[in-house]
Amino acid sequence: MDLSTRYLGLTLKHPVIASSSPLSETLEGIKLLEDSGASAVVMFSLFEEQIRYENEAFDYLLDSGCDSFAESLNYFPHIDRSPKEPDHYLKLVSKAVEATDIPIIGSLNGVTSEGWIDYARQIQDAGAHALELNIFFIPTDIDMLPSDVEQRYFDILQAVKSSVSIPVAIKLSPFFSSIGNMAKRLDEAGADGLVLFNRFYQPDIDLDRLQVDSRASLSTPEEIRLPLLWIAVLYGRIEASLAASRGVHSAKEIVKYLLAGADVVTVASALMKHGPQHLQTLVNDLEQWLSARNYHSLDEVRGVMSRLNATNPEAFERVNYIKILESFDNTLAGGNYAATP
Ligand SMILES: Cc1cc2nc3c(=O)[nH]c(=O)nc-3n(C[C@H](O)[C@H](O)[C@H](O)COP(=O)(O)O)c2cc1C
Repeated sequence: MDLSTRYLGLTLKHPVIASSSPLSETLEGIKLLEDSGASAVVMFSLFEEQIRYENEAFDYLLDSGCDSFAESLNYFPHIDRSPKEPDHYLKLVSKAVEATDIPIIGSLNGVTSEGWIDYARQIQDAGAHALELNIFFIPTDIDMLPSDVEQRYFDILQAVKSSVSIPVAIKLSPFFSSIGNMAKRLDEAGADGLVLFNRFYQPDIDLDRLQVDSRASLSTPEEIRLPLLWIAVLYGRIEASLAASRGVHSAKEIVKYLLAGADVVTVASALMKHGPQHLQTLVNDLEQWLSARNYHSLDEVRGVMSRLNATNPEAFERVNYIKILESFDNTLAGGNYAATP
């Protein structure tokens, strides 16, 4: 069975990548991910805030009314503000590249295009095979125009692309008014890959303590539906590689993402839940699913259920939504209330 795939111009032995998570925070963790079968590892993120703590510019930004920084410090209270952090990150990238035989993808998480982008080049110099940019921007300023929010993505991409030669993927938010157009323009602007989607911080409220509950939660398989839709819509229409990120807990989700058109899937929550060894189960089960149906390579399944190739492309359109509502069966969906005619 040929499970090999191409992602960001790299050849991977299979499509299951370890997503950015605390599992890659140590060299031992990264080696365990490789030993457990990851075809590539996306490192945990180096945050713009961590870099800024090292630079005097940080104080200036806090003072200049750029709320997103102050807010994001609350989103990531675990950030170690030690000035050594960026340096430690670069050393870890370098050691990981030396100690493993799989691609190591650095990860930068930020929201502006100035003052920290230099770390993209430093991550490249440390030996990373590619870079993932997680632009974790939450525009809580309601006067900010959508075009300004979008422009941040292009400014960051352009600044990074002009300073590195390794491939660059963008981990994208689903919260754009035209996500397809955003993906198309990022592709045209030189993104080598799009990771769909970033799992955004969404706080809850603790009713007992009347406090904002900002704990991170793990994903569930149901969360594949949004990335699945957009991967199916984008497949065959942009040059950039497509990585599915969200909700992969078993081989079923992997197969669905491949059928929609993903080049790779990335996994974090399932590995946090079951341990890195779960990677091997995922790959074995994927292989079994394919051989049981007489497939010999991923190319035979990739994109078969995309909007471009599906026998009923309207399944991805609004008209289908209306049909679903008309034929909705509450009992089949798990409810037990039947309205009397
Ligand atoms: C505990 C935890 C830490 C994470 N840290 C990062 C991070 O540092 N950078 C990043 O881009 N994504 C991070 N993520 C997001 C994951 O890489 C992934 O995109 C997201 O969880 C969806 O995939 P999943 O359903 O397999 O978890 C983290 C996720 C979890 C659960």
